[in-house]
This record gives sequence, structure tokens and C-alpha cells, in this order.
Amino acid sequence: MTTRTPRRREDDLFIASPAHERTPASVREQVDPEQTPESLEAYRRCTLWHDATQAVPGAGSTHATLMLVGEQPGDQEDQASRPFVGPAGALLDTVLAEAGIERKAVYVTNAVKHFKWELRGKRRLHKTPAQREVEACSYWLERELAKVRPKVVVALGATALQAVLRDPKARLAAHRDRVTHIGDLTVVATWHPSYVLRAPSAQARKTALAQMIAALLRAHALTGQS
Ligand code: URA
Repeated sequence: MTTRTPRRREDDLFIASPAHERTPASVREQVDPEQTPESLEAYRRCTLWHDATQAVPGAGSTHATLMLVGEQPGDQEDQASRPFVGPAGALLDTVLAEAGIERKAVYVTNAVKHFKWELRGKRRLHKTPAQREVEACSYWLERELAKVRPKVVVALGATALQAVLRDPKARLAAHRDRVTHIGDLTVVATWHPSYVLRAPSAQARKTALAQMIAALLRAHALTGQS
């Protein structure tokens, strides 16, 4: 069993009762936005927000037993402030449909909440987040985990896996299609949808897609609700 830094009790309390719900209107203005995860002004624990349009928090059912974690928002997610709404999201929707999972029944988020990019011509191209940026954003991922309390987390790609396990050395090759238990959480790791989209051949794409569907089926079965 992998060990993982336990969540702090005060974090659980905080997320169970968001500041805007438990704070009287008269003192709401005094609430530090950094301490209010619901606010898009939050998620600023590193400098990535400077170049992003806005934060992209997680979305979906806060009662979900299954949580999907990606790497970071892409160009379209950055503009919509919703996770997985671009090409990678379309692939993810296909995988969910093939696995018989309703997207609205799951909670979808990213390890990093702002789009990191570099300009190539007129296009903003994805840049992999640095370890320090993943670590900075783990503050928010922990709160999402504490709020939703999923039974099973699907890590989509290596960055998500490292964030969920809180282990920068975790490798997808070692965890993919294997079930990992960390505390009361079950983690299934699989390809990131962009990996499937970029597969070098139709056959490689078909294989990776089938592996992703199998991982989602397995994760869904592990929730006990399939
Ligand atoms: N890739 C991700 O990892 N997350 C998104 O939300 C979109 C693309």
C-alpha cells in the first residue's frame, strides 16, 4: 500500500462548510479569496494565473463516487473555465460513454488549475507544468478530494498520478491498469486523453483507447455502483 500525506482535519471542516455559507454577510468581505475555493480569484498559489484567462476549477457531482483527474486545462478550458471541454474532453466523453458512465455523475478536475502555455505563431500551445506548480496546486486538489470524498480516483496521465499520490517519482508505467490503494482512496491510472489523440498510428490509437475504456470500466466497478 502506498502512503500519502493524510488530509488535515481543519481542511475537511473548511470544505464541508464553505466560507460563503458559514460567514455572515456583514463579514463576508473580510474573507480572504485565497481561502475561498469557490472563488475564481483563488487558485493563485503559483504564478501560472498571470498568463491564464481564468482558473478552471473541478466540475461535476460533489456526491460522485468516481473522480477523474487530468493534468491542467487546455486552451478551450481556459476560455470556458470548465475542465475537459476541448478535444481531450471530447475523447474523454467517448471513453466515458463506452464505459457506460454518465459524465454528470462523476467529478472531473485537474492537478493544476490554470493553463500553462507558450505562443507558437498565433497558437497557445500547452506546456507541461513544473513540479513546483503541481505541488502548489495540490492544496486545491486536496480540498476537492475532501469535499467530494470519492471512492475511486482515475488519474489521467503521469502528472495527475503524481499529484494524486503526492509522489513526484510515481510513473504511469508502474501504475497503469493496476489498482493502487492510498489510505481510503482507490486509484486507477490510465493514459491522458491527449496521449490517445496524439498516438502515432490508427492501431496505436485504437489500443490506447481500448486500454482507457478498460481502466474506466474497472474504476467504475470499484465504486460498487456499476
Ligand atoms: N487536458 C487536461 O488535462 N485537462 C483539461 O481540462 C483539458 C485538457
